[in-house]
Amino acid sequence: MIIKNVDLETVCGITSKLPDNTLPEIAFAGKSNVGKSSLINTLMNRKSYARISATPGKTQTINFYNINQEFYLVDLPGYGYAKVSEQEKQKWGRMIERYLHGSKQLRAVFLLIDIRHDPSANDKMMYDWIVSQGYQPIIIATKLDKIKRSQKDKQVKAVRQGLGLSQGTTVIPFSSVTKQGRDELWELAEKEYLN
Ligand code: GTP
Ligand code: MG
Repeated sequence: MIIKNVDLETVCGITSKLPDNTLPEIAFAGKSNVGKSSLINTLMNRKSYARISATPGKTQTINFYNINQEFYLVDLPGYGYAKVSEQEKQKWGRMIERYLHGSKQLRAVFLLIDIRHDPSANDKMMYDWIVSQGYQPIIIATKLDKIKRSQKDKQVKAVRQGLGLSQGTTVIPFSSVTKQGRDELWELAEKEYLN
């Protein structure tokens, strides 16, 4: 993918009306701090266009990045952020659901899981929910640079088992630090969802 231009075109807060886009959308879901915004920066070849933070709960809006006037990468707020009230979590859960359920242009949902940890109950719930909406999520196992190379297969297997993935489900190990997985991800997106 050649990135000619990127533009944070729409930012939706909890009460915002979601955009009625005409270009295809690809969305990134995952728990808070898993690396969604970092991944989007990596895909866009930008260092810090999408705001990232070591503190969970950085992205609290749904952000639509227009790429080359051809499609959107959609950065979703993370779930499972402990410091947010139960009421706030529910509101965001509903907003994410509203988007995933309602978008007419959504072509694919990528679910990010930290490669170091077994998927949580929330991860599993998100995975099942995405499936129930008729999508076949692609799993991205993030922060690959944080584990030893020898641990990779074992950790990917743990992610597969934790989510109960079928054989046919793709898991892409990824690192925003080393950019590993970037080309594979773009290739898949271009081939399967953007043509
Ligand atoms: P929320 O917006 O809070 O939902 O988080 P997020 O999923 O967007 O995570 P973000 O991209 O802000 O990254 C969270 C932290 O993890 C930051 O400190 C990043 O620098 C770090 N991080 C993200 N991806 C990687 C990675 O591949 N490797 C390493 N080592 N750190 C990463
Ligand atoms: Mg973020």
